[in-house]
Amino acid sequence: MKKLDDFRLKLGNKELVPIMIGGMGVDISTTQLALVAAKLGGIGHISDAMVPAVTDRLYKTHYVKDKLKKYKFNADNDDKSVVQFNLDNLEEATKIHVSKTMEQKQGDGMIFINCMEKLTMNNPLGTLKVRLRAAMDAGIDGISLSAGLHLSSFSLIQDHPRFNEVKLGIIVSSVRALNLFLRKTARLNRQPDFIVVEGPLAGGHLGFGMDWKEFDLMTITQEVLDFLAEKELSIPVIAAGGIFTGSDAVSYMEMGAGAVQVGTRFTVTDECGLPEKVKQEYFKADEDDIEVNQISPTGYPMRMLKQCPALHSGVAPNCEAFGYLLDAKGHCDYIDAYNSEVEKHPNEKKVIVTGKTCLCYHMRKFNCWTCGHYTYKLKDTSLKMANGDYQMLSAEHVFKDYQFSTNNQIALPQAE
Ligand SMILES: Cc1cc2nc3c(=O)[nH]c(=O)nc-3n(C[C@H](O)[C@H](O)[C@H](O)COP(=O)(O)O)c2cc1C
Repeated sequence: MKKLDDFRLKLGNKELVPIMIGGMGVDISTTQLALVAAKLGGIGHISDAMVPAVTDRLYKTHYVKDKLKKYKFNADNDDKSVVQFNLDNLEEATKIHVSKTMEQKQGDGMIFINCMEKLTMNNPLGTLKVRLRAAMDAGIDGISLSAGLHLSSFSLIQDHPRFNEVKLGIIVSSVRALNLFLRKTARLNRQPDFIVVEGPLAGGHLGFGMDWKEFDLMTITQEVLDFLAEKELSIPVIAAGGIFTGSDAVSYMEMGAGAVQVGTRFTVTDECGLPEKVKQEYFKADEDDIEVNQISPTGYPMRMLKQCPALHSGVAPNCEAFGYLLDAKGHCDYIDAYNSEVEKHPNEKKVIVTGKTCLCYHMRKFNCWTCGHYTYKLKDTSLKMANGDYQMLSAEHVFKDYQFSTNNQIALPQAE
């Protein structure tokens, strides 16, 4: 019986353990989590979502406070187009986050940054360009382009001295999206170095509509493999979404995948950025506590725990401090949803907004408990303690369980 460790991911001249820990924003996939993956010979991700807010918390910078101070005058205005990110600050914050991570890296693995196109930041191309280039300047090993089609992303960095050195990959959920992307990059003579195929059981935003149940990762992975073979392209395919055991992973490797990308099982590790009490919510979740909903202003469905504080909240839009989801015209769907509730209840001090959520505010506060479909199985991966809580796992334990387990088994931790 094969185990995941019988395979290797070849990226350029590097051979890696074929386990990639996916990017999980906002700072859920922390520097510490990425470092473990790299130390063990795999690939870890940090996330570039809301990096200025993240460096404020980790490294005592004050980008959020300064931005709020500058734009406070606009708080009651629905038009947020004046609320622009200072690109020098954005560059500085990204460089701090990436370089503080890379300088601690040990082992033969790699560390990538997950970059979401849907963080349009009131200036989609301008801010994306700064984020990508600053990460490359600061020594990142690779970039995973996610949440959006990223048709212009390569051209934003094509003149960067590390354009051919940094591993560049794209996350897609269909052959159609991949084909569009490849057609665009063919003109630049630069193929992606890897393709993550993310199915409908993943955490975070989904690349599917509310009909996500009609799709499955195996089928899409096979379609992508066939498409690449037909085009005679040899680009490693990395399957993601609902791969819960080492044996699940092996089944993708046997069909021709180059590696797997996993996230959910690492949400209950010491190194994951979620607060301790939220990790316990993940452990304790049952299947019917998990839903896919449309409360994200990005327009993509998102999977999360139903009891999370981001649902049925009604905070005033926080765009002057954050504003990561403002489109090129300074608009976010949460502003409309909030205003419509305020109009309906003119005498109420507080409103509850059900259709959308202020994702910036709630992700920053770890109030949006986004999770993978199999979160309800996490309780089977650890030990229940006398007080009803579950024993936290180490990322190394989970990584090695993926790497060495067979027969769909899950190794339990040593009792503490
Ligand atoms: C808590 C959480 C947050 C996530 N956030 C992001 C994100 O910010 N960007 C992204 O591209 N994918 C995100 N994902 C998806 C993961 O990177 C990964 O591809 C996926 O969850 C793998 O499936 P699994 O969780 O079933 O192992 C997130 C997943 C989880 C569980």
